Amino acid sequence: MHFDILTLFPGLFAGAFDESIIKRARESGSITIDLHNIRDYATGRHQVTDDTPYGGGGGMIMKPEPIFAATEAVLGEQINSVPILLLTPTGRLFTQSVARQLSRMDRLLLICGRYEGVDERVHRYLATDEISIGDYVLSGGEIAAMVVVDAVTRLLPGVLGDPSATFEDSHAEGLLEYPHYTRPPVFRDYPVPQVLLSGHHAEITHWRRQQALRRTWERRPDILASARLTEEDRAYLHQLEGDN
Ligand code: 6GU
Repeated sequence: MHFDILTLFPGLFAGAFDESIIKRARESGSITIDLHNIRDYATGRHQVTDDTPYGGGGGMIMKPEPIFAATEAVLGEQINSVPILLLTPTGRLFTQSVARQLSRMDRLLLICGRYEGVDERVHRYLATDEISIGDYVLSGGEIAAMVVVDAVTRLLPGVLGDPSATFEDSHAEGLLEYPHYTRPPVFRDYPVPQVLLSGHHAEITHWRRQQALRRTWERRPDILASARLTEEDRAYLHQLEGDN
């Protein structure tokens, strides 16, 4: 997978892309990342990339010309075959399902908008998709682009050691994950649940499923509706409803 990232702040990406999973994915050749400074594609002596909004109001708006020029220069003849994602708080919500769809592409171009806004012509005539990572406002799309690169990269074959690790992940089945424990068995009087020390694998699996269901029911009832549930799951949730 190749990522092209268009940004006014390429320096923000150091660190996120130079450590841990992304670092290893780059070293192994699973992904390549090119950062492109939008300012390099702005013309004129001051290489201006933003301007005041037509119609008045506050803030500065990113101009269309440097973003179109950068995208066209970077993609060349692939301009019509590579998804062009605009990171913006007005985009559709980024979910694990969107990450999975994007992970099937072999190249993605991400445009980092700034929060005050991007000229609407970029939204309408350049971007093929618009993505928001949640209902809050960031100063720019850079951190959102890091989120997308991370979530997509870890889904690529060979990036994580154990393929079952992604499958069982939080959200993979539409449920929050069950709680995890490691040694010691008692830490400052706080014990590990006995069932996990029992060695009874069937009981452990059953306990984890119920914990995942209970947590999702408590914290994220909104995602429970679309989760894949068995009759036994539904019976347990019904029991939780009754207890409350
Ligand atoms: Cl993609 N950009 C900005 N500026 N704010 C956001 C966002 C993106 N997603 C959530 N908030």
